[in-house]
Amino acid sequence: MALPTINPTQTNAWKKLQDHYNEINGLHMKDLFAQDSERANKYTITWDDFYVDFSKNRITEDTFTYLLELANDVKLKEAIESQFSGEKINQTEGRAVLHSALRAPESAVVHVDGENVIPEVFSVKRKIETFTNEVVDGSRKGYTGKAFTHVVNIGIGGSDLGPAMVVDSLQFYKNHLTTYFVSNVDGDHVNEIIKKLDPETTLFVIVSKTFTTQETLSNANTIKDWFLKSASEEDIAKHFVAVSTNLEAVQSFGIDPNNIFPMWDWVGGRFSLWSAVGLSISLAVGYDNYASLLTGANKMDDHFKNEDFSTNIPVVLGLLSIWYNNFFDAESEVIIPYSQYLNQFATYLQQGIMESNGKCVDRKGNAIDYQTGTLIWGEPGTNSQHAFFQLIHQGTKLIPADFIGFTKSLYGNQDHQDKLISNFLAQTEALLNGKTEEQVIDEGAKASIVPFKIFEGNKPTNTIFIDKLTPESLGKLIAMYEHKIFVQGVIWNIYSYDQFGVELGKQLASKILKEFGGGITNAHDASTSNLLAHYKSKR
Ligand code: F6P
Repeated sequence: MALPTINPTQTNAWKKLQDHYNEINGLHMKDLFAQDSERANKYTITWDDFYVDFSKNRITEDTFTYLLELANDVKLKEAIESQFSGEKINQTEGRAVLHSALRAPESAVVHVDGENVIPEVFSVKRKIETFTNEVVDGSRKGYTGKAFTHVVNIGIGGSDLGPAMVVDSLQFYKNHLTTYFVSNVDGDHVNEIIKKLDPETTLFVIVSKTFTTQETLSNANTIKDWFLKSASEEDIAKHFVAVSTNLEAVQSFGIDPNNIFPMWDWVGGRFSLWSAVGLSISLAVGYDNYASLLTGANKMDDHFKNEDFSTNIPVVLGLLSIWYNNFFDAESEVIIPYSQYLNQFATYLQQGIMESNGKCVDRKGNAIDYQTGTLIWGEPGTNSQHAFFQLIHQGTKLIPADFIGFTKSLYGNQDHQDKLISNFLAQTEALLNGKTEEQVIDEGAKASIVPFKIFEGNKPTNTIFIDKLTPESLGKLIAMYEHKIFVQGVIWNIYSYDQFGVELGKQLASKILKEFGGGITNAHDASTSNLLAHYKSKR
């Protein structure tokens, strides 16, 4: 069954939200808090080790009711069911969307084309486990008999961002292996990594769902050439493994068929860290931690599937985002983790969110006349407070923010943790309340300076407070955003799981590349022609 093709703007709920927006647009959240002593409790979801406070949003009871009605009007419940049961909801590519199956328990049954995929998923997991254990305990050795000390993940996009973010986020749980990620086709990237490596003790994991990606194959070939300066062809089998759906291409690269970790076309690149694409994660933190990451995601899957929408974290976050994007014309959302470990989290989510929901055609193929995908950005607090928070507090744009924090730090330095969390709490309080002219005057500001010191407040934030950063809680957090992406895609009536928008640039790049060596054979606009000629004269 296909996803429904309901234009959200034609639903009753959308019309109610439109009228309602005009009524409540001028309300200040601090008045809403003053009027309702229960507001914070009413709009907080506690689930497992998650405490999600969404009370600091520009919503009333009516707003929340209408947003939930919108979810029903677009048949979100049915869409969730379709996704989890393996229907081919990625219709433009004719594929199921089943990253959830990768973290389901072994007892689960998920059919694709009439076949239960879970046994296959678990057979690959066992392969990951055995391989990980052998590399970590040193029993798997390189071509000179030495144990591995370094792992290099070669991939880009979903074959890089997820594993790189998770390995960085879970560095507290890391073992002795040093892990690097090579992604950019910029040769300086790969060379900077190569100079830190010893070919005798380095394991290379080439990750490419298609095994046709220019960046990944170029980097893999450069590394192979470098490796072969000290080793021989048959040593490749000991040092190179691959994760891919394209088994033929992997073998013709020279990789031993035993060293291939398969994946499936029903796993989208940007949702693939739960598959063998996460091999580098397993190698870096050990298989048990990798399995806990998947357990966490599975718990969030169950929550998303079964929880009533009013207390369903991804659903609520998705609806709030629609509220700002489509009614307040907010163009971007900022994600601020109060944990240095989550340094790469927003970068990772940029692909998940923007590659999925950056679409301008609806599920019937018609041009859309409402806003879809939000711009995603962010950096950890407190650093970002000293960088771009000025604009969030006093700029002219409305930027809804997700604040993510952990009640416990991993090293247990309470002095630092209290300072960190005081900032975490203070920022959302400041964004809510702002500072009035009266308050500024009371503080003794000079009259001429008063206008510059006023904070309007009324800036929406979600606070996602989690007990501790563990593999399991990180799994939950990532899955929470994955499901939010799905909720929004369903509401916007778009296909979230294709990415045709990345193709045009790739095609043109391959044409231009040929022109560097020979003559200019393609018709270009005047600007591109000049730039090409400039490069050719200087390269
Ligand atoms: O950028 C487009 C894209 O197809 C992403 O969706 C994907 O994650 C990335 O390229 C890498 O693709 P592959 O794993 O096939 O090398």
